[in-house]
Amino acid sequence: MCGIVAYVGYESIADRILIEGLKILEYRGYDSAGIASFIDQNIITVKTKGKVQQLEEKLQIQKIQTSIGIAHTRWATHGEPNEVNAHPHHVGEVTLVHNGIIENYYELKEELMSKGYNFQSQSDSEIACAYIDYCYQRYHDKEEALIKAYQTFKGSFAFAILFADDDQNVYAMRKDSPLILGTSATKTFIASDIQAFLHYTKQYIVLEHNEIARCSREGIVIKNLQKEFVKKEIQTAQMENKDLTKNGYAHYMLKEIHEQPYAIKETIQAYLSNHLKDLMDQFPDLKKFKQIHISACGSAMYAGMIAKVLIEKKARIPVQCVVASEYRYMDPIFQEDTLLILISQSGETADTLAALHLAKQHHVPTLAIVNVENSALAREADYVLYTHAGVEISVATTKAYCTQVALLSLIACHLSYIHGYIDAEEEKQLLDEFKQLPILMDKLIHQDTYKEIATHLYQKEHVFLMGRGLDYALSMEGALKLKEISYIHCEAYAAGELKHGTISLIEKDTPIIVLCSDDSIYEKTMSNMKEVKARGAKIIVLATEDLPIAPDTYDVRLTIPKTDILLQGILTVIPLQLIAYETANMRGCEIDQPRNLAKSVTVE
Ligand code: AGP
Repeated sequence: MCGIVAYVGYESIADRILIEGLKILEYRGYDSAGIASFIDQNIITVKTKGKVQQLEEKLQIQKIQTSIGIAHTRWATHGEPNEVNAHPHHVGEVTLVHNGIIENYYELKEELMSKGYNFQSQSDSEIACAYIDYCYQRYHDKEEALIKAYQTFKGSFAFAILFADDDQNVYAMRKDSPLILGTSATKTFIASDIQAFLHYTKQYIVLEHNEIARCSREGIVIKNLQKEFVKKEIQTAQMENKDLTKNGYAHYMLKEIHEQPYAIKETIQAYLSNHLKDLMDQFPDLKKFKQIHISACGSAMYAGMIAKVLIEKKARIPVQCVVASEYRYMDPIFQEDTLLILISQSGETADTLAALHLAKQHHVPTLAIVNVENSALAREADYVLYTHAGVEISVATTKAYCTQVALLSLIACHLSYIHGYIDAEEEKQLLDEFKQLPILMDKLIHQDTYKEIATHLYQKEHVFLMGRGLDYALSMEGALKLKEISYIHCEAYAAGELKHGTISLIEKDTPIIVLCSDDSIYEKTMSNMKEVKARGAKIIVLATEDLPIAPDTYDVRLTIPKTDILLQGILTVIPLQLIAYETANMRGCEIDQPRNLAKSVTVE
């Protein structure tokens, strides 16, 4: 998704701060970049297709020294990636950068063209810029113009805005796209993510819907759409600068895989240190829920699929797990005492937020499981439980996903206890097993078989993964990891389903990764494995140490420690992450910023 950085301060270092901020936001995914800043009372805009590095080279030529500016990395939604469509856009008195989609851009364009406006780009953001200029020309008041625009725009937006006649202030407003305001004694920031200015200040304000911010070197003034002053609490970020470096790893993804044992320890500790008291304080009536819906996207959805298996198996509560982009439009049936659990590492995913809003319209209680503090999902859900994965930079999620599974497993375990399927002693034993996880994870991370397995995959066009129950949910995550960073076509299948069609695709040396960590149904999976082996498939089986598997039924076996089914997924996913990483590395892929992808999908 697009990245926004803006700065106004006493020091003329805007170009350095803005470029630095854009580089930190690169992980969000983009295809062009640009900066606009005041030079001698004129706004100068520099844009480029491609990387921030190219923008930096252009700036060095122009030697821009300024104390106020806005900057942007663009993930194309309307119009191809090129310099004309790149932000900042400039129309009349207004220059802005935008993250989001203006859904009524076409009717606004028609209206503006009838008033004499012409457009250079294919971007909805240029139309938004022109509309704000139109309102400013009409009302001769910046706040009035921004309020009118806010009330007119449909869709999602986060703006940082400069007016040609005001070289002291950057204006900001947002709806459904994230925007954070940073503040210190000498500098003020606007950014999509707090990481962009963390190096300068940890003090931040969350800009909410229906608010307009005016940011100057003296500080931040926020008003609502009725022009009333809004007092905001200044918060302090918990994250550290060290989180934003690779600490010697080749890629953020590898660093974050290696951070998983610590992230799991932190997440589990946060809930075990007081016997899940946090959970119960938030949910005094957790026992009343008779149905659970889970809605999320991508890997978060696959964490939800694991939660469905565990909650239904251990607490016998029916669980519906639906991707948020479907859930938001399917008019779901909410029976009495339904709880909706929303899972999202960023807490800003548009589809997942829409699922939340749908539930709230039906007065259905919502629990958000989120990694980013104060994100939209965390602020708007009825209850929030944070994972403690720390900052996750790589687009392909690993530690955030793992901690989501751990937290969901804790919830399944506790539901099992409060519904009487396990007693206090059994729950304590299980929670003690949770404490063993970091050690077992670390052993798996440091196995040296992943490169060898990758040699069977990296030159292939198609890879299949399969499993049953918990292993089916895990194979979905394994397929996503492998395809999104190696660009190899991967498909995950319920093992029993392959023979109903897909087995026609299996030919000699077609690689199939078979997951066997759920011992309750492993014989069935073994039968499916023999079916594909008989047709020439190259079998890579990931199985727990307790399972006897005939050596002539597979080509490579990777052994996983055995633990309770509640915790097994947290271990089984590690080989899948590292197989994906080594395969993508062998293919020379851009691992941390895969093509076309964004870290947080804040548009539909
Ligand atoms: C996972 O590796 C992908 N980057 C993607 O599927 C991601 O899980 C999905 O976009 C959901 O993001 P969220 O957790 O921030 O909501």
